[in-house]
Amino acid sequence: MIGHREQWSSRLAFVLAAAGSAVGLGNIWRFSYVTGTNGGAAFVLIYLVAIVMIGYPLVVTEITIGRKTQRNPVGAFLSLAPGTPWWLIGAMGVSAGFVILSFYSIVAGWALAYIFKAVAGFAPDMDFAGTFMGHIGSVWPPIFWHALFMLLTLGIIVAGVIKGIQRWVRILMPALFGILLILVLRSLTLDGAGAGVAFYLSPRFDEVTAQTFLAAIGQAFFTLSLGMGAMITYGSYLSEKHTIPDNAGWVVGLDTLIAVIAGFAIFPAVFALGFDPAAGPGLAFITLPAVFAAMPGGSLFGVLFFLLLGVAALTSAISLLEVVVAWLVDEKQWSRPKASLLMGAAIFVIGIPCTLGYSLLSHVRFFGMDILDTYDFLASNLLLPLGGLLTAFFAGHVWSARELCREANRPAGNIRIGRWFGVMIKYIAPAAIALVMVTGLFQKFSGQ
Ligand code: PHE
Ligand code: NA
Repeated sequence: MIGHREQWSSRLAFVLAAAGSAVGLGNIWRFSYVTGTNGGAAFVLIYLVAIVMIGYPLVVTEITIGRKTQRNPVGAFLSLAPGTPWWLIGAMGVSAGFVILSFYSIVAGWALAYIFKAVAGFAPDMDFAGTFMGHIGSVWPPIFWHALFMLLTLGIIVAGVIKGIQRWVRILMPALFGILLILVLRSLTLDGAGAGVAFYLSPRFDEVTAQTFLAAIGQAFFTLSLGMGAMITYGSYLSEKHTIPDNAGWVVGLDTLIAVIAGFAIFPAVFALGFDPAAGPGLAFITLPAVFAAMPGGSLFGVLFFLLLGVAALTSAISLLEVVVAWLVDEKQWSRPKASLLMGAAIFVIGIPCTLGYSLLSHVRFFGMDILDTYDFLASNLLLPLGGLLTAFFAGHVWSARELCREANRPAGNIRIGRWFGVMIKYIAPAAIALVMVTGLFQKFSGQ
């Protein structure tokens, strides 16, 4: 590639940006609702196993591919295997970025709208489910917040990712962490919280199906920003002198910690306050306002929380749009502003049906899913796991596990990737993902 590529200014800058991509709506909104609809603790356990066995190895693999090639996902595969069709993995990743950001921005818009609902105040006797349904079921307000969120994302992308994110994530992570801990305290001390703790922590395996596994793998990919080249792209801005295995460990650890803590903030309250854990995408937006209403100074915490959730969503959205933009800038020689503006506009338009699925298009269903669910299913349970499977297979067999390990262990840091890593990437991860996808999808579409 010609020209100078922007680089992270330090090791901390990279970890912050990658963690900023990972930590987002996936940890709070998606993790809680998918855990709730999949029966609780058993799902959480499978999810944690997927994080360790598949998630961590793939984060290392994607970052290594990015740092090695210094290219966007399409270019990265092209440069490792010239003249072969493997670049299609990267192309699939770019498409996944489109689909995910289009619904991600709708949900981020909910968070922005809730900043103002919190300003107006949450009272204990409010109808929280009704308020949520009222918001998402209206036509124009969600489109307005979706537009605002896309504009914010665009603004940062046009200006160049690197400086924009670093500044934010440094403040965001500790603040989000602190406020989640306060929420956990309030939630755990509500009358009847014990049932929620049991739901979250004592697994009941009799309800586990192939679809539970598919949902757990989908959540692992979504939450770690895996399977679509976001980590390849961020790795491509990493300099050769920075280590990978330990930095990847920080990103995976932080992301998992925040999700697990969010569960402790949400499930005790769900049961104590009589909500339905299987309520679906509204779970966090219905439950958390009720927790704020039960706290002294709840409005202030509510405003802060939804503001932080919005910023966390922003630092993830940036990484989604960056994949698309980096591809057009590197491979098609578009200017950064042109690529950002045109793609941002396209994603905005593609997202609109998702929100109309709760109002004007509420009759539209695909296999029982509304439009937003359908986008999410297509991306999280199909495109991301398939992208991850192919990336692992490619790295292990086409590029070669030996090269991958050597590259990942360079320069020597305080963690080394060992032999087991090659086995995971070559055999276990691709086989496990394939098995779970085939059985899970079969079960879903055979209508069982
Ligand atoms: N990991 C982000 C989250 O948890 C979402 C995301 C998915 C970001 C894929 C980038 C790529 O919210
Ligand atoms: Na996440």
